Amino acid sequence: ANPSLLILAGDGIGPEVMAEVRKVIDWFGTRGLAFDVTEDLVGGAAYDAHGTPLTDATMDKAQSVDAVLLGAVGGPKYDVLDFSVKPERGLLRLRKEMDLYANLRPAQCFDALADFSSLKRDVVAGLDIVIVRELTSGIYFGEPRGIIEEGNERVGINTQRYTESEIERVARSAFELAMRRGRKLCSMEKANVMESGVLWREVVTEVGRDYPEVALSHMYADAGAMQLCRWPKQFDVIVTDNLFGDLLSDAAAMLTGSLGMLPSASLGAPMANGRPKALYEPVHGSAPDIAGTGKANPIACILSFAMALRYSFDMGAEADRVEAAVEAVLADGLRTADLLGEDGVQPVTTSEMGDAIVAKLAES
Ligand code: NAI
Ligand code: MG
Repeated sequence: ANPSLLILAGDGIGPEVMAEVRKVIDWFGTRGLAFDVTEDLVGGAAYDAHGTPLTDATMDKAQSVDAVLLGAVGGPKYDVLDFSVKPERGLLRLRKEMDLYANLRPAQCFDALADFSSLKRDVVAGLDIVIVRELTSGIYFGEPRGIIEEGNERVGINTQRYTESEIERVARSAFELAMRRGRKLCSMEKANVMESGVLWREVVTEVGRDYPEVALSHMYADAGAMQLCRWPKQFDVIVTDNLFGDLLSDAAAMLTGSLGMLPSASLGAPMANGRPKALYEPVHGSAPDIAGTGKANPIACILSFAMALRYSFDMGAEADRVEAAVEAVLADGLRTADLLGEDGVQPVTTSEMGDAIVAKLAES
């Protein structure tokens, strides 16, 4: 059977960038690599049609396919809705019910964009690292939490709490990833001041015994933040908890330039076929400020599909081809509006960028 893909384009620029991904998918189809693609609604689009940001039927489909590819959800039109039916709830439900505990955030710097980064060219050119952030536990979820009265003042409380099995499964995802890449994994926590960090370091070390080919190192997360800015190329895969991963992945994202370039994957436990539960999506949102103008950069979403090729479908060579096509159009000087510097280059539209990438694929 063909690999199956559920496409949830969502709102705003979501459908615009997803249309360009469809061109890439269709191109692979003409080369004998067909996917069984189903499209459905999520977010505001689902609310408009069904009164809920994600129907049970769509949820069931997401659970049964090999991979889900999502565009973006949300927009000002939906800001007035009750919290329980807000577009974001559709995405949160997917993440929760699929139990996607490992969030992969690559920071990849295409050579043609190295001067676009906020750091020096030699620091970022050719950078290709992945941060694995634990996504379903830690201080954002731990109990007790709340604002309580104590004496004559209020106290805000959150609890960092990690079970051994929560650390173990995300560590395993990170080691598996490292095995497919540079076989180098750096685990970041604050074992010097946090109990959860001590356990994190112990469990990651234990899991590492199953991966003797992977060079494992440990770093305090604050030092890690510094090293990420000083010399990010020293890393290959980084694994860290939910809070530190939130901060470190946003910081790493800025090494490479625009939000319009950043893909992501959220992986869960292996399914019966051995593939992990998986949802791929660009890091950016629905960009209502540019929706409908043809200014959206489709590369983040196209690179998210490349991640699906690599991590869900074992099509690493095809993923390389997509990434090379992106590199090639950038090297040709093609820029969507978000990638424009000061040099007066005329931007291309969303659809022109997609067409150019497909043309490069065809040449490759
Ligand atoms: P955003 O990521 O949608 O936009 C931030 C800025 O980056 C905007 O100026 C936008 O034009 C630009 N931008 C984003 N993606 C781009 C692309 N592909 N090409 C060119 N420029 C791009 O974040 P914002 O404005 O905070 O949120 C807008 C809506 O999106 C809100 O409703 C928010 O809740 C939702 N959102 C959804 C996410 C998701 O679906 N995963 C993630 C973040 C926000
Ligand atoms: Mg963040």
